[in-house]
Amino acid sequence: MAYYVTTPIYYVNGEPHLGHVYTTVAADVLARHMRQRGEEVFFLTGTDEHGEPVAQAAEREGVPPRELAERNAERFKEVARRVDATNDFFIRTSDPEHETVVAEIAARLKDNGHVYEGVYEGLYCPRCADFKTDSEVVDANKCPIHLIELEREQEQNWFFRMSAFQEPLERLYTERPDWVGPRNRYNEALSFIRGGLNDLSLSRARLSWGVPVPWDPEQVIYVWIDALLNYYSALTYARPGEDLRDRFWPPTVHLIAKDILKFHAIIWPAMLMAAEIELPRKLFIHGYLLMDEHKMSKSLGNVLDPFEVMDVYGTDALRYYLLREVSFGQDGSISPEGFETRYNTELANEYGNLASRTFAMIGKYRDGVVPAADPAPEVAMQFDGLAAAVKERIDAVEVSAALDDVWERVRALNRFVTEREPWKLAKDEAAATELDCVLYTLAEGLRVVSILLTPWMPSTTARLLAALGQPDESLASAELGAVGGGATLAELGQLFPRVEPRAEASA
Ligand code: MSP
Repeated sequence: MAYYVTTPIYYVNGEPHLGHVYTTVAADVLARHMRQRGEEVFFLTGTDEHGEPVAQAAEREGVPPRELAERNAERFKEVARRVDATNDFFIRTSDPEHETVVAEIAARLKDNGHVYEGVYEGLYCPRCADFKTDSEVVDANKCPIHLIELEREQEQNWFFRMSAFQEPLERLYTERPDWVGPRNRYNEALSFIRGGLNDLSLSRARLSWGVPVPWDPEQVIYVWIDALLNYYSALTYARPGEDLRDRFWPPTVHLIAKDILKFHAIIWPAMLMAAEIELPRKLFIHGYLLMDEHKMSKSLGNVLDPFEVMDVYGTDALRYYLLREVSFGQDGSISPEGFETRYNTELANEYGNLASRTFAMIGKYRDGVVPAADPAPEVAMQFDGLAAAVKERIDAVEVSAALDDVWERVRALNRFVTEREPWKLAKDEAAATELDCVLYTLAEGLRVVSILLTPWMPSTTARLLAALGQPDESLASAELGAVGGGATLAELGQLFPRVEPRAEASA
């Protein structure tokens, strides 16, 4: 089965921060896991470059929007590489191929009778590039996200008759209750639809940084219409000479945070219906990463630099922390202290130490060769059905619950060492078979958890699997006992070396 996963395309009006990294890493976990299952995967991320948010930021900096877009798109590409994202393509909405598709679909909406000319008036947030309804604004006229005062604006625009899709959208939500997850977001979107849909202005007159409206080049296409279409246009040109829509459309899952729920859960399916394009299978909406209880965002100035964190602790530790600390789908606080605690107790002790102890004991007691034995029953019981459970979690986009499931087994292996005390067995010749069993079970358990952990910590697990002499990362081999003894272990080194406290490290 083909698997197509996307992240939002990020605005190039600022630099990447941990919030962006969060979605990209989560999507990467899904993509990597699906590849381990042998599925055909397409993973898309990229940048949203048109519209007021970018035009205004460029104006503030005194550079043309294209220049700002070039510079920051590079930063987003770099951060994707740096977090080891395995995206198959990086789309930029300034790509001419994307612009062509946007113009084509806009024309199709008009040809299909869903576009008319009218005047728009409302409170407009230039940072969101969105008009706000009176029920959305806070303190009478402030943007609920950016907390800036909004002005009432009026414009001659082309409109998309979204109101006509109220009933088809309600039907979509009734017929496909899984199409938006988690459930609270589904309810939120549905009640928004039931509250009544207004038509949407499809173009902007006061702006030139965008895709010209094909039948009225004085206006540009509204940035959200332009941006949403990235998910579709990318498949037409990501592989020159190939039309990937045949294999990958419709998308399996769009990952987004709740800030852009309305655009994805309402405008996007309405547009696709109007253009007669098949709808995505699922939207999954995760929560916000919070620092000191506030959503991290560039405009609020409480941003944690992902590059700094990765310089000190490594990429895998960051990937692990983000998805372990915050239950995927809910808001959750992150902090340098929380990070250090998990790094030391979980990564360095529970996983890193388990590996180094196992390697050291097999080295010392069995000359570095994994003994042949059957897995110990108490561990076999713990591992029974684990790979299947992880698959199910990932199918449901439960990215942190899947990680928790595997981590429970890392802990089970640690308990097993404590209970069986192999260092005592080693002193008793009569216990040689039992020691074989314990050492084999540990090596085999480490192999299985490492395969399953690969999507979250790809470099670390690759290192460990290579040192175990078992580089096969396919999910089919993630069963305890699937591999026998006999492998000679290689040097492993420290997986997660101790790090000086942050303040000292950066001093
Ligand atoms: N350009 C639009 C999206 C267009 S998609 C067709 C946009 N860009 S954005 O740069 O503001 O990125 C928003 C997305 O970044 C969120 O939906 C989420 O995926 C991610 N996040 C940004 N800050 C975040 C947190 N503090 N916490 C969690 N996710 C965060 O909106």
